Formats: sequence, C-alpha cells, structure tokens
Amino acid sequence: MGKVVVAAIGAAAVVTAVALILHRRRRMGDMPNWVRAMDIVTEFEEKCGTPIGKLRQVADAMVVEMFAGLASENGSRVKMLISYVDNVCNQIFNRNRNEDGLFYALDLGGTNFRVLRVQLDAGGGSIKNLEFTEVAIPPELMVGTSDALFGYIAAELANFVAQEGKGFYLSYGRERELGFTFSFPVMQTSINSGTLIKWTKGFSINDAFGQDVVAALTRALKKQGLSMHVTALANDTVGTLAGGRFLNRDVVAAVILGTGTNAAYVERADAIPKWHGPPPRSGEMVINMEWGNFHSEHLPLTDYDHALDFESLNRGEQIFEKMISGMYLGEIVRRVLCRMAEEAAFFFETVPPKLQIPFILRTPDMSAMHHDTSPDLRVVGTKLKDILEISNVSLKKSKVIVKLCDIVATRGARLAAAGIFGILKKVGRHASENGKNQKTVIAMDGGLYEHYTRFGSCLENTLKDLVGDEVWQYISIQHANDGSGIGAALLAASHSRYLEASET
Ligand code: BGC
Repeated sequence: MGKVVVAAIGAAAVVTAVALILHRRRRMGDMPNWVRAMDIVTEFEEKCGTPIGKLRQVADAMVVEMFAGLASENGSRVKMLISYVDNVCNQIFNRNRNEDGLFYALDLGGTNFRVLRVQLDAGGGSIKNLEFTEVAIPPELMVGTSDALFGYIAAELANFVAQEGKGFYLSYGRERELGFTFSFPVMQTSINSGTLIKWTKGFSINDAFGQDVVAALTRALKKQGLSMHVTALANDTVGTLAGGRFLNRDVVAAVILGTGTNAAYVERADAIPKWHGPPPRSGEMVINMEWGNFHSEHLPLTDYDHALDFESLNRGEQIFEKMISGMYLGEIVRRVLCRMAEEAAFFFETVPPKLQIPFILRTPDMSAMHHDTSPDLRVVGTKLKDILEISNVSLKKSKVIVKLCDIVATRGARLAAAGIFGILKKVGRHASENGKNQKTVIAMDGGLYEHYTRFGSCLENTLKDLVGDEVWQYISIQHANDGSGIGAALLAASHSRYLEASET
C-alpha cells in the first residue's frame, strides 16, 4: 500500500514537473512575441508624443499658416475661406429686427444629413418651434454623381416639408427659405453661392468639383417641384459659430470634432489682405479655416498615419484631420493592432481576417473600449468578439488595447487643443491682461467631442495647460448641440430676401 502511495506521489510529481516545463517552454516561446508586441506599442507611443513644447510649436505653425491663408488665396494649405458672414454680432443678434418667420436648414457633411425647420419669434429673436429629422446617406451616393446625391437629398427634404404642421407658419406671399450647411471646403462667391474645392471624409463625387453647390441643390429642389429659396450657404463651423453666438455673445470661434474636423472664428476685416470686397460695416468677417488640411513638420506623424494617408481617397490632404477626427481614430488603432498581429502573433498564429478590413474598427467602438472600467475589461472582450471575431483575449492583452486607444485619442485631443490655442493667439486672447481679459467662448460640436468623453476632457486639460491658469478663467468651451443646423436657419433668417423689402 505504502509503495502504491509513493509511486502515485512520484507519478504526480513527474506530471507536475512536465507540466511546469511545458508551461515554461510555452512562455519562453511566447516571450519574444510579447516583447515584440510591447516594442511596437512603446515605439508607437513615443512617436505619438505631444509634449507641451511641441504643442506650442504646432500652435505657432498654425498661426503662421493662418496669416499666409489670409494674405492670398493660395497662400497656405489652411485655406482661411471667407464666409460672407460679416455681421454675426449685429445682424443675427439685433433682437429688434423683424427676423420672424419659418426657416429651413439642410445640414450635409457626414454619413447622415439633417433637415430642420425653425419658427422664429417675431422681433424677439428666439426660437419658438423646432423640428428636425436625420437621414442616412447611402454609401454609394457618397462616391456617385452630384445629381444622384442632391436628388436624394431634395426628395427627403420634400418629404419633410410635406409634414409641416401645427406651430409652423409661413408669412403670406413668401417662398420658404433655406440655410444650407455644407461641410466641405467651398470657395464662396457670396452668402448663397460657392464652388466646391474638394471632398473630404470619404466623399468623392468627381463631377461636383468646381460646381456651385447652391445651384446644384436648387436644380434638384426644382426637379422635386419644391418651391424653396437657398438664402445662405455656410460651413458647419460657420453655422455653429452663428448658432453659438445667438445664445452667447462671447463666442469667438467654433470647432467641429466629428467625422471631420475644422474651425471658424471671427476675424477683423482689416486683417484679411485677400479680401477685396467692400469693407463690412461690422468691421469683421467670419473665416472658415479648413484647418483639417493643416500640415507641419512638428506634427507627430507615424508610419501608420503615412500608410493610412497613402491608402486614402484624398492622399496628401487633410493630414491634421486624419490625426484628430472621428473618421480616422479607430482606423489608426486597427492598423497598429494589425501590425502586432502580423509581427508578434498578438492574437493567434495567423492574423484575424476581420482585423485586416480597413475602417472596420469605428471610433465609437474604440471609445467604448477606452471607457471600459469593468475589472475584466468586458467591453473590450465584447467589441473584439463582435467586430473582429476574436475571442478569449487575456486581460493583459485587453489592457494593451485600451492603452492603444489612449495613445491615439490623447494625441488627437492634444493636437486639437494646440489648434485652438493657435486661434486664441491669432485673435490675441491667449495672454493675461492683468485681470482685464475679455470672456472668450469656443462653441464646440461634433460626435467625437460629444460622445468621446476622454477625448473632450483631455482637450480641455491641454488647452488649460497651454493658456495657463489665469487666462483659463476667462475661457470656456461650450457644447453647441445641433449648432450648425440651427445656425444655418438663423443665417437664412438674417439674410432673408424679404428683410430688405420689409425694412425699406
Ligand atoms: C471639412 C470641413 C468641415 C469639417 C467638419 C472637414 O472634412 O473639410 O469643411 O467643417 O470636416 O465637418
């Protein structure tokens, strides 16, 4: 019996020893892969670094480009487009003016478009009623023809107008008026005309280049039999600025952080050498910066960014946007993970097929993983399984994935803060004036800012570091929910063709 026990113990010891060796071997075998994977992450983190000194250089480079873009039409990659909105202070906000009535807005610029109707209070300058609807743009229309895109939009708009009911009324004898938010770079020739410079954010409709987008929309509205006059054309940043200023006169700039990114701000007309039109009565002009196209040697670009750009529909363009905006952040994370899978067998011996599909990892999913606070990182596990069909990822690896999300989001948010700091420098709101600083509000909109909480808070903390505690007391960032659509309706109201008639 004793012998049996001894033999059993001996056998158990052998089994344990063998298991230990196998385990150690497996670990030894894994080790180079794990080390390689961590090398990739460390190298990426270093290259994405945005120390405060670098951010100041980025902000200064932005200011240089702003001056160059204002000096001449092709002076800079940052186009600094004239918006023809030259009286945000006086025109929209003069509450005594009779800007009552019904106004429509169309907000086109991402994967969805929105149509709104707004009933303004007579003379009161307030919004009495508002209704809107949101419609997804079928992906094929984003790369089809101009007629197909505008035809689709006009049909949806006609449906929406047909549902106009209680609480909305058009003054007798008037045609409906529309503010058109078109969130792509447009060279405006007046408040309601302008030609498309280029597409961004995954749109690519060749026959639209150089076309007047208001004329294209007007043709499509006519085809639908819809009687509506396009009164104002505005970028989403300009609409957000107008909408933001409607609520708060201290708004000096608007920033969009969504599928794409961009900023607009109020500039002194005499600081715009390329403006040859009549001097605006207000002495000011809103500038649509198109900062997404900013580029500088100070930008912390990595191989992943270069590859993403190379394979994009707009190679060499929108480099700042490709580091910051919602369309690209998830894709950057995917590219790093893909390299880890290829070179360090991060998931399995082979690269998971789904991981190789460009843009499969969307920024909202990246955000959900980044915000996962569960002890076992359950959300990360679910996202990997549902989106990439990768199961049973260890906690250790899940933590690495969260870290990647953090690196990418932090870089984007800090760069966006540097861009805003550049604007503050340009308009002289960045430095202390011994307690005499003016209040400065930045209206902010876009899904990335609204939903990616860590991105938004990192941006604010970074901006605070850049301006310093004293100036920070005078600065605030305000979420301008739906600002661009409402802003476009307000711009339509303030540029209504019935205004002059009623004033003369
Ligand atoms: C466009 C801008 C727009 C921004 C935010 C960019 O891709 O070029 O015009 O304001 O996206 O929507």
